[in-house]
Amino acid sequence: MPLNRARILLIVGGGIAAYKSLDLVRRLRERGASVRAVMTSASAQFVTPLSMASLTGNQVHDDLFSLTDEAQMGHIELSRDADLIIIAPATADLLAKVAQGLANDLASTLLLATDTKVLAAPSMNLRMWLHPATQRNVAQLKTDGVAFVGPDDGEMACGEYGPGRMAEPLAIVAAALELLKAPTKLPLPAGLKRAPGPLTGHRVLVTSGPTHEPIDPVRYIANRSSGKQGHAIALAAAQAGAEVVLVSGPVSIPDPEGVQTLHVETARDMLAAVESALPADIFISTAAVADWRPAEVAASKVKKTATGSVPSFAMTENPDILASIAHRQVGRPKLVVGFAAETGNVLTYAQDKLARKACDLIVANDVSLESDVAGGVMGGSQNKVHLISSDGVETWPILDKDEVARRLVARCAELLMSPNLKAAP
Ligand code: C5P
Repeated sequence: MPLNRARILLIVGGGIAAYKSLDLVRRLRERGASVRAVMTSASAQFVTPLSMASLTGNQVHDDLFSLTDEAQMGHIELSRDADLIIIAPATADLLAKVAQGLANDLASTLLLATDTKVLAAPSMNLRMWLHPATQRNVAQLKTDGVAFVGPDDGEMACGEYGPGRMAEPLAIVAAALELLKAPTKLPLPAGLKRAPGPLTGHRVLVTSGPTHEPIDPVRYIANRSSGKQGHAIALAAAQAGAEVVLVSGPVSIPDPEGVQTLHVETARDMLAAVESALPADIFISTAAVADWRPAEVAASKVKKTATGSVPSFAMTENPDILASIAHRQVGRPKLVVGFAAETGNVLTYAQDKLARKACDLIVANDVSLESDVAGGVMGGSQNKVHLISSDGVETWPILDKDEVARRLVARCAELLMSPNLKAAP
């Protein structure tokens, strides 16, 4: 995930380097990231919550027992509604708490409850850093998957010289960028049980959102898709007990809870991620994949010319992810569901797609401006769909996308159990 779409939760520990965390917020925000801050009570002795709130543009959270905060955004949600957690400064005390699994204030509780990768930027007196207790805690945290940046060598606020200075904000940003290249949601712990549902024991693979096909380093071709419908399907499948992998193109909505989300940009990346996530019992291809991409990606920004001549781009076809998965001879999911967004002749095109793309089911909708869904299907929260299979056509009323998702997942669970389901096209 690029930094300009990342949601960062910054946990500020109580150390003199807390003043640098204000600059870190600026550096993250100028790169487009959104930042929420949680401050320990000790950190408020070094920088004020008001400065932090002004720079993040968000309310600062500091109280585990705040009823107002809990009503607005519970602490579990706060810890999970982030793509990366940064602890800066990570004090000896905070590292010790996290290493031991203590949860006696908001910061430590969030760090124990989170499902998100953590990056720690330690800052402390050099004897505290070199103390065997701190080194034991750091080793434990690394084993537990926490990433570290710094500390740097340098002169301490107390006059001593050695390791213990917090890494510079730009070094922390660089470390964050590196971590965001890989999925930052931690896998479900082995002991975590889901409530049993109709898809318990089944693996579901969903694609969602648009793909971005680069023209040059700053421009791309994309489809108009918010990812709302695909993400709702992934969540509904997880709530129905399935193990779910969601492959998402660039969207601005959060990863669904309890779902392993892989972030991709292009159609070719999406195909590779889908193939890497097989085998699956059900494949639901909701993504609005770009059918074509520019044949050549310009290495630098395409500039306007003095003569006003307009550039033209040769296009080439993208892989059809749905068709390629549905036509697999080996490892075809038992149930393959495609989507068909059309601006007219919805049923005719969808029936054709069912056969051509070898799907078991097509979910078709009219995305034309004339469609009767208030606010439009694209980006809106409602959808009106037809289900097309070899059994015929079924039309659902206008429903919230969440409800379309729940009904579709329930239908998939029924179909999966049906003795007539063909294993291959
Ligand atoms: O042909 P069309 O793009 O209308 O097909 C829509 C269906 O095919 C959707 O399920 C979409 O996810 C899938 N698709 C795909 N790869 C493409 C184009 C579409 O998986 N390159």
